[in-house]
Amino acid sequence: MILAIESSCDETSAALVEGARVLANIVSSQVDLHRQWGGVVPEAAARAHVEAIVPVVAEAFALAARSPADVRAVAATNRPGLVGALAVGVAAAKAWAYALGVPILGVHHLEGHILSPLAQLGDQPVAVPFPHLSLIVSGGHTEVVDVEAPGRYRLLSETIDDAAGEAFDKSARLLGLGYPGGRAIQEAAVGGRSDRYRLPRALADDPFRFSFSGLKTAVLRLVETEGDRLSVPDAAASIQAAIVDVLVEKSTRLIEQTDRAALTLVGGVAANRALREALADRCRKVGTRFVTPAPELCTDNAAMIGIAASLRWGNGDADDLLLDVTSSAPLPAWS
Ligand code: KG4
Ligand code: ZN
Repeated sequence: MILAIESSCDETSAALVEGARVLANIVSSQVDLHRQWGGVVPEAAARAHVEAIVPVVAEAFALAARSPADVRAVAATNRPGLVGALAVGVAAAKAWAYALGVPILGVHHLEGHILSPLAQLGDQPVAVPFPHLSLIVSGGHTEVVDVEAPGRYRLLSETIDDAAGEAFDKSARLLGLGYPGGRAIQEAAVGGRSDRYRLPRALADDPFRFSFSGLKTAVLRLVETEGDRLSVPDAAASIQAAIVDVLVEKSTRLIEQTDRAALTLVGGVAANRALREALADRCRKVGTRFVTPAPELCTDNAAMIGIAASLRWGNGDADDLLLDVTSSAPLPAWS
C-alpha cells in the first residue's frame, strides 16, 4: 500500500492505493479561499496546504480503515507546480517516509494525470491499451502526449499561449460567472445555443499546436459589443463549443496520424461533460477506444500520484529524502 500526497496547486489531497486500486482519495479544495482574488495566490495556497495536510492524511487512513503500519512507500508530487505549495506536500511525505522507514517517490504531476485512467475505484479493473495518446487539459496545460508505456512519454502537441482551462477561467470571468470558470461555464451553457455567437477556432489545420488567447480576446469583444443584450447561456455554450471543437478536431487528426489504439482524456477540463461526450462520440466514429477517468480523478487528486508511484516502485525505482521540488520540469523519458 502506498500513501500518496498531492499539493501542487490549490487542492490538498492524500490517497492510499494498492497497485491500481484506490482505497481512499481525500481532496480538500482551496477554491473558496482563492475566490476572493479570482485566482490562485501562491503564498495563500502554501499556508492552506500546511493547515490541511495532516487532517487530510488522517482522513485517508480512516476512510480506508487501514493503519500507517501497512504503508510500504510514500509518494508526493514534486514537480511541476507552485514551489511553496509543492514543498508542503513533499515535506509531509518525507516525514511519513522517515517515521515509517519506507522509501519515498517524487512524482511528476502530469505523469499522474496521464496515468489517472488506470485508477480502479470499484471492483472492476480498468484496461487501458498501450501505446495510446493522452489529451491533457488542465488549468496550466494543454498537451497531447504519446504514451508508449508507463514512464515513456513523447510530447506531440502543446499550446503556444493559454491552456484550455485558462480559456474557460478567463472567459467565465469576462461573463461575470466567477471562479473557477470551467464548471461555471458548463452550468451556464445548459439550454444555451452554441451557434449563437461566432468565436474563433485557432490553428484549425495544425494538430501540433493549440492556441486559446484569441478566444479570450474575442469573448472580451463580444461582451463589450453586446453589452446588456448579451445572452449569458448562449455565450457560455458558444465558448464551450469553441474549446471542445478545437480539442476534438486536433485529437482526431493525431489519432489518424499516429494510428494509436486508444485516446485518453485527463486533467481538470476532462471533467467537462460536453467535451467527454463529443470525444467519446468522435472516437466511436473513427474506431478508437476512448478512456477517461471519473470526474473526481480528472481534477487534481493524490490517487493518480499513487498510481504513477506504484508503477515506478513496482520497477524497483525510488528516490531518497533529498528529494527536491521544481516549478517546471519535462515529463520522464520525454524524447
Ligand atoms: O487539473 P486541474 O484540477 O489543475 C491543474 O493542474 O491545472 O485543472 C483545473 C482546471 C481549471 O481551469 C478549471 O476551470 C477546469 O480545470 N475545470 C473545468 C471543469 N472542471 C474543472 N473546465 C471545464 N469544465 C469543467 N466541468
Ligand atoms: Zn493538474
